[in-house]
Amino acid sequence: MIKLIIDTDPGVDDAMAILYAAAHPKLELIGLTSVFGNVPVATATRNALWLAELARLGIPVAEGAAVPLEQPLRPHPDFVHGIEGFGHLPPVTPSQQPDPRSAAQFLSETCAASPGEVTICAIGPLSNLAAALALDPAIVRNAAQVVVMGGALETPGNVNEHAEANIWNDPDAAAKVFAADWPVTLVGLDITEVVHCGPDDFARVARNAPVIGGFLNDAVQFYFDFHRARHDIDGCHMHDPTAVITLTDPGLFEYREAPVQVTLDGETAGRTSFGGDCPAARVAMGVEAQSVLAEFLDTIGQADTALGLRQS
Ligand code: RIB
Ligand code: CA
Repeated sequence: MIKLIIDTDPGVDDAMAILYAAAHPKLELIGLTSVFGNVPVATATRNALWLAELARLGIPVAEGAAVPLEQPLRPHPDFVHGIEGFGHLPPVTPSQQPDPRSAAQFLSETCAASPGEVTICAIGPLSNLAAALALDPAIVRNAAQVVVMGGALETPGNVNEHAEANIWNDPDAAAKVFAADWPVTLVGLDITEVVHCGPDDFARVARNAPVIGGFLNDAVQFYFDFHRARHDIDGCHMHDPTAVITLTDPGLFEYREAPVQVTLDGETAGRTSFGGDCPAARVAMGVEAQSVLAEFLDTIGQADTALGLRQS
């Protein structure tokens, strides 16, 4: 089993990724850390706590950065994920409180407690990971690996033609994470926009797993509306779950080993490109999209049973 912390800004596709990880037998989800991005950080923390409760995980949720390292906070994209983060759904009301530690402290201490065993999967802006590197440089040795959903290497961005949202929201943090000497897998729009899920897919998982699939089917409708309007597809891109699926099914992807650099300012701020003098990252550049989709749908379709939310 892979011990996993997900650093997240939930977010509809973040919810897909977290619930996929919660239900998957190869993954032991041991904590969540929250970050601004799709929603303000307080909303991200609240949503992460609620997702952990929905899946009855009993894991800590540590709150992280409210703003980027250097640049001003950009507007939250409520037209993509809804004002509360889960589409049209009303605000969720978790009963648990966040962990008293900051996200950076939690990442540092959890990796140090099990050196070489904990994978960090970042599916929001990289501000918490940069803060953890500053707080505890030894985290580069203590973390097993880092998987990042972010970037657009040989495909256009999604906030503008240059930049993908997670990198654009904090390019300075991304540059620090790519410069650090730890194993980084980068999962960007080059492949996440190739993996589409449609209304029939989510309707089916809602029937098979009424609690987990039912929630995702409700939340995703708003996300579908955005994709119909912006991308002209009847469905949605599967950004964040695809990053987690590189952990459970690495053979479904083709990778290029190369350094990745980030443009820090100017008109192309947030752009990611091959080159520079960072350590080489493992960049996912090819994907068996239908197999990734099947893997996601199978796991979510069985999630209620896997999580003990109903009898099989
Ligand atoms: O560009 C896709 C990423 O930005 C995903 O993490 C999604 O949740 C959005 O924040
Ligand atoms: Ca996200």
